Amino acid sequence: MKIMVVGGGGREHAIIKKLKENPRISKIFALPGNGGIAKDATCINIDSENLPEIVDFAVKESIDFAVVAPDEPLVMGLVDMLEEKGISCFGPNKAAAIIEGSKAFSKELMKKYGIPTAQYEVFTERDMAIKYLDTCKIPVVIKADGLAKGKGVIIAETCEDAKKAVNSMMEDKIFGESGSCVVIEEFLEGPEVSVLSFTDGKVLIPMISSMDHKRALDGDKGLNTGGMGTIAPNPYYTKEIAARCEEEIFLPTMIAMNREGRTFKGCLYFGLMLTKDGPKVIEYNCRFGDPETQVVLPLLESDLFEIMECVAKGCLSEAKVEFSKDYACCVVMASKGYPGSYENGCELVIPEDVSNVFVAGANQKEGKLFSKGGRVLGITERGESLKEAVRKAYISTGKIKFDNGFYRSDIGAKALKALEEA
Ligand code: AMP
Ligand code: GLY
Repeated sequence: MKIMVVGGGGREHAIIKKLKENPRISKIFALPGNGGIAKDATCINIDSENLPEIVDFAVKESIDFAVVAPDEPLVMGLVDMLEEKGISCFGPNKAAAIIEGSKAFSKELMKKYGIPTAQYEVFTERDMAIKYLDTCKIPVVIKADGLAKGKGVIIAETCEDAKKAVNSMMEDKIFGESGSCVVIEEFLEGPEVSVLSFTDGKVLIPMISSMDHKRALDGDKGLNTGGMGTIAPNPYYTKEIAARCEEEIFLPTMIAMNREGRTFKGCLYFGLMLTKDGPKVIEYNCRFGDPETQVVLPLLESDLFEIMECVAKGCLSEAKVEFSKDYACCVVMASKGYPGSYENGCELVIPEDVSNVFVAGANQKEGKLFSKGGRVLGITERGESLKEAVRKAYISTGKIKFDNGFYRSDIGAKALKALEEA
């Protein structure tokens, strides 16, 4: 079978490595992939947002199955376009991907179906938004409605900053049209948990839970990033909380999307906050999270491709979805300066004995790898305990030569502390 994976980051590398375990797959294309992914798939230089070219390529190459991983092409409707050509896909169609594509939509969905989330109001007029802020408790959270490359959330510590955030989104359009509508919501507190799930609209199977580390620097300091590392499973996500989330959040969301005529098929990501009033939804993503995928998929013991096929066919209840009892830790190496400006082109030397590296941003030249992008590598290791997984991940990370790189040295520290206190 010929498979096409759309995207080119660490998440896509993790998906491709897992798909390769299936003996029925003879060829995997990555669009565009990257210099590191090129070791595991044939990279085709087509941007993941260039929908017409992707469809032409898939038709020309007689692709049997497509995995669409990033948010942009999903929200833009790539799955609909490929399915029109008779190509089976893993990923939601445009109608369902709106659960991530519009925060106003997802908030209204939760309100309508009684799914726990932060209190909020939606504004399309700046003046109304500014006036409303005078009545809000501080801190307050301002979110651009549409996709904003992971940067569309501002937590304002003063009313003045909140107003500045609204102005920058609605007047200065720092996120383009994504900010012409904003959601202003209550600030929630508690441990965060990411839960990815497989769903075909009939059943929903949660994957192992994980914890992201979004800030750039140790001790959760510095700017928000796409994610500087992950661990799985998340110790805060106990069996009791999991049962509650399934009953109060996961299944109600699947059913709500069906009732809205927007059946979701693919990976539905729940960004949760465990507040003192119970688990609440911070955000939905219509796709695998990154770097969560870089710890979740290495712990998946079942065949990823078979699960994806079942999701596409609507027979997920027949699929085997089993996870290891181990822990995993992923340390992200990023370019110095990220998430601000940084330099590309630094050589990456990965020794042979470090095998679990997912490449997020690199070029290949004459057999050598060079950094390209903010997040460059994800180094994942497994262990029977979280402590062991973290220790091994840092040993492997230390063996990599990336002179212009940096990484957090406390990935997993909060989780280890939670385990000790439990
Ligand atoms: P997002 O870009 O949607 O993943 O949001 C980035 C981060 O902002 C989340 O991981 C949370 O840490 C934080 N966040 C978003 N919404 C809220 C909220 N209502 N209360 C507190 N923190 C939030
Ligand atoms: N790590 C969060 C995300 O993928 O959006």
